[in-house]
Amino acid sequence: MDSISELPNALLLNILSFLPARDVVATMVLSKRWQLLWKIVPKLIYDDDSSGSFPRFVDRSLLLHEAPVIETLHFKLSQNSGADIGVWIITALKRCVRKLIIKTDWCFNSTAPVILPRSLYTGCSMLVKLKIKKVVLVDFTSPISFPSLKKLSLKYMKYPSDDLVQRLLSSCPVLKSLVVKRCPNDNVTIFTIKVPSLKSLVLNKTVAEFEDIGIAAGFVIDAPSLERLDILDNYGGGFCVIENEMPNIVEADVDVAYIHLGNILSSITSVKRLSLCLSTSEDAYAVGSVFHRLVHLQIGTCYTEWLNLLMCLLRDSPKLQSLELTQGHEALDDEPRPCWNEPSSVPECLLSSLKTLKCLETLEWIEYEGAEEEKKVIAFILRNAKCLKKATISTDSTDPNKKLEMLKALSLLPRRSPTCQLAFD
Ligand SMILES: *[C@@H]1O[C@H](CO)[C@@H](O)[C@H](O)[C@H]1NC(C)=O
Ligand SMILES: *[C@@H]1O[C@H](CO)[C@@H](O)[C@H](O)[C@H]1NC(C)=O
Ligand SMILES: *[C@@H]1O[C@H](CO)[C@@H](O)[C@H](O)[C@H]1NC(C)=O
Repeated sequence: MDSISELPNALLLNILSFLPARDVVATMVLSKRWQLLWKIVPKLIYDDDSSGSFPRFVDRSLLLHEAPVIETLHFKLSQNSGADIGVWIITALKRCVRKLIIKTDWCFNSTAPVILPRSLYTGCSMLVKLKIKKVVLVDFTSPISFPSLKKLSLKYMKYPSDDLVQRLLSSCPVLKSLVVKRCPNDNVTIFTIKVPSLKSLVLNKTVAEFEDIGIAAGFVIDAPSLERLDILDNYGGGFCVIENEMPNIVEADVDVAYIHLGNILSSITSVKRLSLCLSTSEDAYAVGSVFHRLVHLQIGTCYTEWLNLLMCLLRDSPKLQSLELTQGHEALDDEPRPCWNEPSSVPECLLSSLKTLKCLETLEWIEYEGAEEEKKVIAFILRNAKCLKKATISTDSTDPNKKLEMLKALSLLPRRSPTCQLAFD
């Protein structure tokens, strides 16, 4: 302990910031110096150990804690400890908390959820980061205000109404990053995100972990400054409507099982990196759209529609330089295999044009199975891609004869690019 005691306060505070509050407070018995030190630790992590003394411990330690600003306040609550969260949040807001994290292990069917107090909606002038998980938000009719909030994460929440969601997000004038993870019974039909300042948006609505699928529920997005969009929604009744173009978008990952794609792809034609796994390719984007900046494309091959989608995007992405095909999630057993149709013309991205001087350089295929249409796709690309440098094909097959056959078939394919290397594994 002696050598530790020689360290400067700033360093000790930094070390204490990584410990649970119980351990931090326990250091007060070490010496006079430590008696004061714990009271100015900028980060407090309250991890409910399900002991009856937890609420009292939080009350007392928050009361005695003296730092003028709490940098981070982190609650990991169990169902029983949620009753006092209102008081703790009020205390935290008075201490200008910058980063607030509240998570519970609440199950949605339980009777005693953790309900956040209304004071959260207005008292947080200094709050920069808010992460909440498995808690309930209540209705609030007065104006909501999060003037400094830059990062918000809402996971497995229950909401009082569609309207509160929209008002909450519209009350964050400097919000840059939003993560939303929805569950089917969250009491929201249309989750509206109108945030002009937003740069990064992650929407995740997977139903694999929930058996009970509710009514159709979707997203409406109006975020014209967005640079990164991630949508994962494998619920067929879902939808996503984008209300404004997103000209600054750089990267997008769209993995949805929607029956209609709506205008998702038409709104992100400025992307440079695009990853897609879609159950439909019909009217995937407006006719005439050009992905004029797209350089890296990844397509998931788990739905039948992948091939049609690939050929459309090859046709409409003149600057494409790298293409990756990968199974994405689990292969769906009952999906029919797609049919190959030879395109009537060679896509511009396979030939270098005077305009771009570049063309497709790398092709990577993960979990190649050697099926007829897969061979046709590779043959077409190798036969036409003028600047292809490397084609990397890997298979999951462990049968050495089958692998040898695949390799033979691939190496016999004519290659237009004289410098193209083929790697098979
Ligand atoms: C809630 O659901 C879980 C998983 O479905 C189940 O194990 C648990 O018993 C349920 N609890 C109540 C209170 O119904
Ligand atoms: C669900 O939302 C509706 C309004 O959209 C509201 O009237 C109702 O009280 C909400 N239910 C719960 C459990 O919050
Ligand atoms: C979405 O949630 C699923 C299930 O919890 C998780 O596996 C996946 O990584 C998440 N995806 C994103 C983009 O957050």
